[in-house]
Amino acid sequence: METLRLTVFDVEQDKDSLNKAAELLKNGRLVAMPTETVYGLAASAYDENAVKNIFEAKGRPQDNPLIVHVSDMQMFTDVVGEVPEKAFQLAEKFWPGPFTMVLPRGEKIPASVSAGLDTVAVRMPENKVACELIRVSGLPLAAPSANKSGSPSPTTADHVLYDLDGKIDAVIVSDRCTVGVESTVITLCTNPPKLLRPGGVTLEQLREVLPDIEVDKAVLAEPEKGKPVASPGMKYKHYSPKAKVIMLDGDYEAFKSYVNANKSDGVFALTFEGEESGLEVPTVSFGHKENDLEQAAVLFDALRELDNRGCRLCYSRVPKKQGVGLAVYNRLIRAAAFQVIEL
Ligand code: TXA
Ligand code: MG
Repeated sequence: METLRLTVFDVEQDKDSLNKAAELLKNGRLVAMPTETVYGLAASAYDENAVKNIFEAKGRPQDNPLIVHVSDMQMFTDVVGEVPEKAFQLAEKFWPGPFTMVLPRGEKIPASVSAGLDTVAVRMPENKVACELIRVSGLPLAAPSANKSGSPSPTTADHVLYDLDGKIDAVIVSDRCTVGVESTVITLCTNPPKLLRPGGVTLEQLREVLPDIEVDKAVLAEPEKGKPVASPGMKYKHYSPKAKVIMLDGDYEAFKSYVNANKSDGVFALTFEGEESGLEVPTVSFGHKENDLEQAAVLFDALRELDNRGCRLCYSRVPKKQGVGLAVYNRLIRAAAFQVIEL
């Protein structure tokens, strides 16, 4: 199929393209849309066949559930079952925004959206184009990140096309995604509630509303093989460039010595901004050491750049785990398939 490019920078001025995208969604088609986190591959969450096509286009494992995107609280209550009062408090504080709640699945949402689970993950995005697309189509949109399963998530329309051109009906060409890593996912279906995936809303912020929230083991460590996991997406090697990534845990001097001692063809260093000097291998940077928001915004770009420049093996610095840094660490350690060398 030919993938249509629909340009929407301004929801008023580019109304025709936006209406066209909404029309495609109403007809059960797949449209990649920008959100403030990463690009999502959207389809009507009420259309079982369209949902099946999402899994197919991405090559996504059948047991990995999707997030349903809504534009207002009415649509939210349409897609969930009975929800705890806390859900409304959290919605009030963090929506619209990079925040997803796992709740009992409503009857209107087909089981295939949630890979057969009786829960559903729901998010209200802040990005104006995404909001307006949901509102105009009148549909809650099931949307995983719009990448080939396993690859780094896309933060631009070009990234989406690189992975999925010819496999989806349309992509909305728009501004790059600002947060740069996927939303924070929590479940309210356990007691106490759990952080399943760190993202743009931080653990520190969540604790202000949910003081007893626990961090799922899979956030920081490799899930044990064969054991069930709370969030199926966390068990896969993920966000990976083709290059092999190894994290080197130590100060910059130790990092530099290790990398220089192991230099050879195709070896790169993934550094913090401004650390490039003194390294005898090509470098790609992913933001300043103390700036977690900047690191999140550029991480997936940096991983894609490694592949474009022919990197075979990449040694990476280790981000701090505070704030949005926890999300950066969580993605990078998965890109590295949990390989960390202590220096
Ligand atoms: O920022 C985001 O969340 C982006 C944009 C497009 O909104 N979407 C995204 O979707 O990252 P995806 O499919 O790449 O990741 C969804 C994550 C997976 O880790 C999945 O396992 C988890 O959410 N998830 C979805 N539904 C769930 C459920 N019912 N129970 C537990 N985990 C769930
Ligand atoms: Mg994804």
